Amino acid sequence: MKILVVGSGGREHAISWKLAQSDSVDEVICVPGNGGTATEAKCRNINPADCDYTVDLKGIDAVSQVASFEQVDMVVVGPENPLAEGIADQIWQCRIPVVGPKFKGAELEASKDTAKSFMKKYGVASAASETFTDAESAAAYIKKHGAPIVIKADGLAAGKGVVVAPDEKTALAAVKDFMQDNTLGKAGSKLVIEDYLQGVEISVMAAVSVTPELAAAGKACILPFVPARDHKRLLDGAKGPNTGGMGAVTPLSDVTDEQMKLFDENIVQPTLKGLIAEKWDYRGFIFFGVMLCKDGPKLLEYNVRLGDPETQALLPLMDCDFAEMCTAIADVQQTGTLKAFAPKFKWKKGFVCSPVAVSGGYPAAYEKGKEIHLPETKDAAVKIFIAGADYSKDDKQKLVTTGGRVLAASAFGDSFEKAYELAYKTMEKISFDKMFYRKDIGLPGAAESGEL
Ligand code: AMP
Ligand code: GLY
Repeated sequence: MKILVVGSGGREHAISWKLAQSDSVDEVICVPGNGGTATEAKCRNINPADCDYTVDLKGIDAVSQVASFEQVDMVVVGPENPLAEGIADQIWQCRIPVVGPKFKGAELEASKDTAKSFMKKYGVASAASETFTDAESAAAYIKKHGAPIVIKADGLAAGKGVVVAPDEKTALAAVKDFMQDNTLGKAGSKLVIEDYLQGVEISVMAAVSVTPELAAAGKACILPFVPARDHKRLLDGAKGPNTGGMGAVTPLSDVTDEQMKLFDENIVQPTLKGLIAEKWDYRGFIFFGVMLCKDGPKLLEYNVRLGDPETQALLPLMDCDFAEMCTAIADVQQTGTLKAFAPKFKWKKGFVCSPVAVSGGYPAAYEKGKEIHLPETKDAAVKIFIAGADYSKDDKQKLVTTGGRVLAASAFGDSFEKAYELAYKTMEKISFDKMFYRKDIGLPGAAESGEL
């Protein structure tokens, strides 16, 4: 089987690596991939910008062209942007199976207002909210409601669209920023304003295979993964500015079975009911961003893809054939293959700790082009996933930084302590100029408490 993976981050390196481990996979084509996928076994990077057969094509059109030209058997989409642009609809039209929801389902991430309406309509536990399309009514609501309060830009904003405001002044400034100064462009022209939730956050991904045909046959399916946690703040102890994620850990010993039961009852099942009732074609992954509150888990957001950096921790823990799982999700014949796959869906007994190394200065301005030195490691419990790094154009042997989040060092251990120790021992052997990483991924006190 030949599989095309869309994306260029650490998540896509992890996806490609896990797919390549399957005996059924001959080749993984990474579009465009990065310095990690460039040297991964069975993987080949293709940048549409360098292909003579994608001339004049850009974005999702170029990716579809590569998929057709290369005659791939399946496409797995990593990031949200191509999904929001309808890449799944387009590639299914080329008769190639896709893991990733079609345009309608992708709105659950592309529009916070759509997501909140869906949550309300189907009784998914979440914070009370109102949607506004003009700054005056938004400001009046904030003054009446008081702080703390959370202001969310409706559209995709690369993690910059949410302000958790401890006071009215910050909330009003966010409204001005998004709606009057248009700092996020069109993404901020509509706002969701929601109640502040106190608690600790977890990320739960799930494999989803829902279509009207599957639903009619009673075979629509959603299979949640074990919970994971991203650490979004830059500094130890959950301090400093927000980032794209400084590391992840899975599973979580601080989450109880009772909380997971409530999560299933009040978030997962109503979501499944909603996907069926909307008659969407949702064959892909869904990500539940959850706040564990005193009165039970509440949904903060849906993402329509796997998390980054959670995937870099989850896939090394996954103890089943990921290509088989992806094929079951896409379920070309719509016979209920994901449901049939469920008994094979297993996790290794143990933990994965996956700290992320970033460029000095990140999330503000940082320099690129720093040479990365990686250790030779033959330890099967360790995997370094490359995110913002690629081979130098002048020296094809030299791996250099190209982004803020550069790599993740994922380590498996049969206890969290062992996973943590191995991950950080590996991190100490990696170097590049101005490299920075948090030292407390997965430790007590590293999770955001949600306290303002
Ligand atoms: P979102 O993109 O909606 O997940 O928001 C980004 C981050 O903002 C979340 O991961 C939370 O840390 C925080 N957040 C979002 N909504 C709320 C809320 N209602 N209460 C407290 N924190 C929130
Ligand atoms: N780790 C959060 C996300 O992928 O959106």
